[in-house]
Amino acid sequence: MALKKLVAGNWKMNGLAADLGQLVEIARAPAECDVALCLPATLIERASRAAPNFAVGGQDVHASASGAHTGCVSAAMLQDAGARLTIVGHSERREAQHESDADVRAKASAALDAGLEVILCVGESLAVREAGAAVATVSAQLDASLPDRPVTAVAYEPIWAIGTGRIPTMDDIAAMHAALRERLVAAYGEAGGAVRLLYGGSVKGSNAAEIFAVPDVDGALVGGASLTAADFLPIVAAAN
Ligand code: PGA
Repeated sequence: MALKKLVAGNWKMNGLAADLGQLVEIARAPAECDVALCLPATLIERASRAAPNFAVGGQDVHASASGAHTGCVSAAMLQDAGARLTIVGHSERREAQHESDADVRAKASAALDAGLEVILCVGESLAVREAGAAVATVSAQLDASLPDRPVTAVAYEPIWAIGTGRIPTMDDIAAMHAALRERLVAAYGEAGGAVRLLYGGSVKGSNAAEIFAVPDVDGALVGGASLTAADFLPIVAAAN
């Protein structure tokens, strides 16, 4: 099934009010695919005022609705600020904040319960890839991270491809996405066929078209190249 592509940017810990002009330029550009930017929490409200019809998202969410969780942001808070979606399970959080698959699953559930769309990230380390265990490892990670109800998108992001300029071969992306599609259908039945499978890790204007042509690649999650309209819009154009 050909799904409408989603090109989502992840600004990570980058961006001040002065950078919102980039978002406005991205929001104004014509697109036949869905486009979203996941921002630092501090910018979500201003971004959603600056571009009211554009999909602004968070980069993480707490699994609890409220309470004594210093420094954390709930799904209701993200939504209250104007977010329509959130990322959960990014490898930078799985590694640096020691988030487990169960944590990611709880975050995804909380976000869906609040009415947010969810991009759930999975991906293998270089050691796992080199050991030939990438598909089995990432499939197991996905099985353990998926909430009961379908997420909007799953992003396959090999950790060794993030911010490095290295990407897997197109055959390796195809094999991984086919395996993840099988897991999604096993989890959700027919609805699993409608979950968009994004590729993430060093996506750029120069490699986007080739990646988007791979079967079962329904879009991209883009880090560094999402920070400016000049770098991001060619990726959107490749998806159109
Ligand atoms: P990158 O990051 O595009 O800068 O490699 C991707 C990501 O972490 O989502």
